[in-house]
Amino acid sequence: MAHDVIIAPSILAADFARLGEEARAVEAAGADWLHVDVMDGHFVPNITIGPDVVKALRPHVKIPFDVHLMIAPADPYLEAFRAAGADYISVHPEAGPHLNRTLKRIRELGAKAGVVFNPSTDPSVIQWMMDEVDLILVMSINPGFGGQSFMTSQLKKIETLRAMIDATGRDIPLEVDGGVTPETAPKCVAAGASALVAGTAVFRGGPEKYAANIRALRG
Ligand code: DX5
Ligand code: ZN
Repeated sequence: MAHDVIIAPSILAADFARLGEEARAVEAAGADWLHVDVMDGHFVPNITIGPDVVKALRPHVKIPFDVHLMIAPADPYLEAFRAAGADYISVHPEAGPHLNRTLKRIRELGAKAGVVFNPSTDPSVIQWMMDEVDLILVMSINPGFGGQSFMTSQLKKIETLRAMIDATGRDIPLEVDGGVTPETAPKCVAAGASALVAGTAVFRGGPEKYAANIRALRG
């Protein structure tokens, strides 16, 4: 087995009225990162949270914040999310015309730069800029909502991206997001994933279940 998979609970499935407490509970339960889903009701058909919520959450936990931007444009908001405490900032290539410039800007701000693949997005979009990428996130659902079913069609893409990462010789995390459960997680890892986002599968059952839920994802 490769080294331990990173588990990043998505707070989209947390109790929004008690976010600080929920973040602390998943950290105590063994979460490695906290995945924050930012949606604008324009790039995706749902609206969630902005930099002020990220900032309010930051002091509650020590684990890295993995901020997934589902907003277009993303560029005007990068600085605010970094200032709010984002460690990883990931963008969809479809959110703007200059992905290379966006990734460079994220690094300039001192964060790690991630690229997110919609189910229809081809791996070749990052072929000529692997040096600028610090995180690759494969969506195994259409972004916008939690609780959807895992798309097995994306396993092949995970394999392709794993080969592209290995060719760089760099340890770029390969993360999967959407419908990750104890049943689908091993398939993702077998295909080459090194990080898993999970909302429903972590937060179901309430705080006393979080540790067991996270353990079940590690397989
Ligand atoms: C959806 C988000 C996901 C979502 C996953 O657009 O990017 O992070 O929270 O939820 P589950 O794990 O329930 O599929
Ligand atoms: Zn996400």
